[in-house]
Amino acid sequence: MERSLSILQLIALFLLPYLFSHNLANTTTDLKTDESSLLAFKSHITNDSSHTTLGKNWTTKTSVCNWVGVTCGSRHHRVIALDISYMSLEGTIPPHIGNLSFLVSLNITGNHLHGDLPEEIAHLHRLRVVDFSNNSFAGELPRTWFANMTGGLEELYLNDNSFHGTIPQEIVHLSNLRILDMGYNKLSGQIPASTLSQCSQLQALWLSDNNFSGTLPKEIGNMTQLQEFYARNNSITGTIPQEIGHLSNLRILDMGKNKLSGQILASTLSQCSQLQALWLSYNNFSGTLPKEIGNLTQLQKFYAGYNSIAGTIPQEIGHLSNLRILSMRSNKLSGQIPASTLSQCSQLQELWLSDNSFSGTLSKEIGNITQLRIFHAKVNNITGSIPREIGKLHNLQLLYLWGNNLSGSIPPEIGKLFNLEKLMLSGNKLSGWLNTLLIITVISLFDLILNLLGN
Ligand SMILES: *[C@@H]1O[C@H](CO)[C@@H](O)[C@H](O)[C@H]1NC(C)=O
Ligand SMILES: *[C@@H]1O[C@H](CO)[C@@H](O)[C@H](O)[C@H]1NC(C)=O
Ligand SMILES: *[C@@H]1O[C@H](CO)[C@@H](O)[C@H](O)[C@H]1NC(C)=O
Ligand SMILES: *[C@@H]1O[C@H](CO)[C@@H](O)[C@H](O)[C@H]1NC(C)=O
Ligand SMILES: *[C@@H]1O[C@H](CO)[C@@H](O)[C@H](O)[C@H]1NC(C)=O
Ligand SMILES: *[C@@H]1O[C@H](CO)[C@@H](O)[C@H](O)[C@H]1NC(C)=O
Ligand SMILES: *[C@@H]1O[C@H](CO)[C@@H](O)[C@H](O)[C@H]1NC(C)=O
Ligand SMILES: *[C@@H]1O[C@H](CO)[C@@H](O)[C@H](O)[C@H]1NC(C)=O
Ligand SMILES: *[C@@H]1O[C@H](CO)[C@@H](O)[C@H](O)[C@H]1NC(C)=O
Ligand SMILES: *[C@@H]1O[C@H](CO)[C@@H](O)[C@H](O)[C@H]1NC(C)=O
Ligand SMILES: *[C@@H]1O[C@H](CO)[C@@H](O)[C@H](O)[C@H]1NC(C)=O
Ligand SMILES: *[C@@H]1O[C@H](CO)[C@@H](O)[C@H](O)[C@H]1NC(C)=O
Repeated sequence: MERSLSILQLIALFLLPYLFSHNLANTTTDLKTDESSLLAFKSHITNDSSHTTLGKNWTTKTSVCNWVGVTCGSRHHRVIALDISYMSLEGTIPPHIGNLSFLVSLNITGNHLHGDLPEEIAHLHRLRVVDFSNNSFAGELPRTWFANMTGGLEELYLNDNSFHGTIPQEIVHLSNLRILDMGYNKLSGQIPASTLSQCSQLQALWLSDNNFSGTLPKEIGNMTQLQEFYARNNSITGTIPQEIGHLSNLRILDMGKNKLSGQILASTLSQCSQLQALWLSYNNFSGTLPKEIGNLTQLQKFYAGYNSIAGTIPQEIGHLSNLRILSMRSNKLSGQIPASTLSQCSQLQELWLSDNSFSGTLSKEIGNITQLRIFHAKVNNITGSIPREIGKLHNLQLLYLWGNNLSGSIPPEIGKLFNLEKLMLSGNKLSGWLNTLLIITVISLFDLILNLLGN
């Protein structure tokens, strides 16, 4: 008896006031907090050039829920989303932002805000999406904000600012992060793959257009949820680590414009069985293209131009039945263009093979690459005549074969390619250009350079 009484007393003394204050909360007062937070925000805007945006709209004459860019929740009647993107606002974000305690989504992209990102943001434990991209934020990444983060932030966009320094260890507190975009900043140091892999939910990671250097750490292989990884235009050296093969969900890998070297490890990459797009152009890759490239069966786009890859295109490339774009321009590839093999890639639309050392003739199987829209093979050493089967490529829009050793007459079939917009055949030993020119001009080519007389 005594025991149950004391439990009742406990409920009376502690639980009821607690329930009262939380369930029957004075929403007017709480919405007032949201209002004063947003008014504080407004007072930190130093230039609201259009004046039609916050200046005239965010006033106490109407409920904060009617303000432009503000969304209130239907249940609690509190501010749950703030979207003031692309309003040309200048100024800073005050700490009062941390009082918008029901905020789920915060989007201020496309303004000119600067200064510190207040660590009070960490108090917003309902916050899921933060988009601070395309502003004028600078300095180091907000270490203390990350460190104090209690909520379950899922998407964080800090791209297109001027953040410098390294990615801080404290980022591991954002343990629910699915999307992290830090592209277009001035971040440096090695990519902290070991740290980032502790954000175990990460699916998309953008680090392109920064100043990252060093090698790509093997711990990248621990980011098992990763589907998209962009690290384009940095100064990353060394090889792509074997551990990348552990990323069985990887769909997009962009390592273009770095200083990577060695052979392209196709057998490693082929373990990423979902890989659809692979950018390796503008690096220092050398050696040959391994035949295991044919094991990347999901591959749709393969860019490996502007490297020093030598040898021939392996036959196994014909296994890539989903391949739509193949770019190997500006390498040291040689041998005949394997038209018959490439025609097995039944989806192939773009073939960029210019500025290599391809030789031999252009075989008539080129006409079997039926989806081809772009055939760019300028500046090679292709001999023989242009096969008339080229006329089977009804989708062809661009045909660049200038700077080769082609001879014979231009097949009149070219004149029947009604989608052709750009044709360059100069710098060969072709004849019969006048007839072709007449046919072609009738179908109004936009961009035509035949200038064969100069041969
Ligand atoms: C809620 O707070 C406001 C402002 O302090 C006050 O005017 C109002 O009377 C309060 N309402 C209730 C039901 O307590
Ligand atoms: C305010 O912004 C507008 C547009 O961005 C700009 O033209 C104007 O010079 C700015 N005014 C001040 C005082 O900075
Ligand atoms: C503020 O903007 C919202 C959304 O554009 C509009 O519905 C509202 O009428 C505006 N309020 C005032 C006072 O201008
Ligand atoms: C909101 O936050 C600021 C700074 O974090 C604080 O000084 C202020 O008292 C808070 N305002 C309200 C209305 O709670
Ligand atoms: C923020 O707003 C812009 C413009 O409305 C939109 O394109 C962008 O997707 C939004 N960001 C997020 C994370 O939803
Ligand atoms: C950034 O925002 C400006 C407007 O402030 C817009 O003109 C520009 O296109 C945006 N840039 C990107 C990369 O979104
Ligand atoms: C963040 O955490 C540190 C200690 O971990 C504490 O001193 C600081 O007051 C916290 N900041 C906020 C805004 O909660
Ligand atoms: C990039 O980092 C290097 C050191 O790794 C530094 O010397 C250089 O100034 C940085 N460049 C930029 C644009 O920040
Ligand atoms: C991360 O990767 C390294 C090297 O691949 C491995 O030795 C380590 O056990 C991994 N750590 C975790 C936590 O999975
Ligand atoms: C990869 O390709 C090679 C050569 O084309 C082949 O022998 C091997 O069986 C393939 N491996 C897998 C796992 O498909
Ligand atoms: C490929 O082209 C050649 C010559 O144009 C033709 O004889 C052959 O049947 C074609 N093969 C396929 C599989 O379409
Ligand atoms: C092109 O090939 C011919 C033989 O087919 C050869 O004599 C010539 O040296 C080659 N030119 C270049 C630039 O490789």
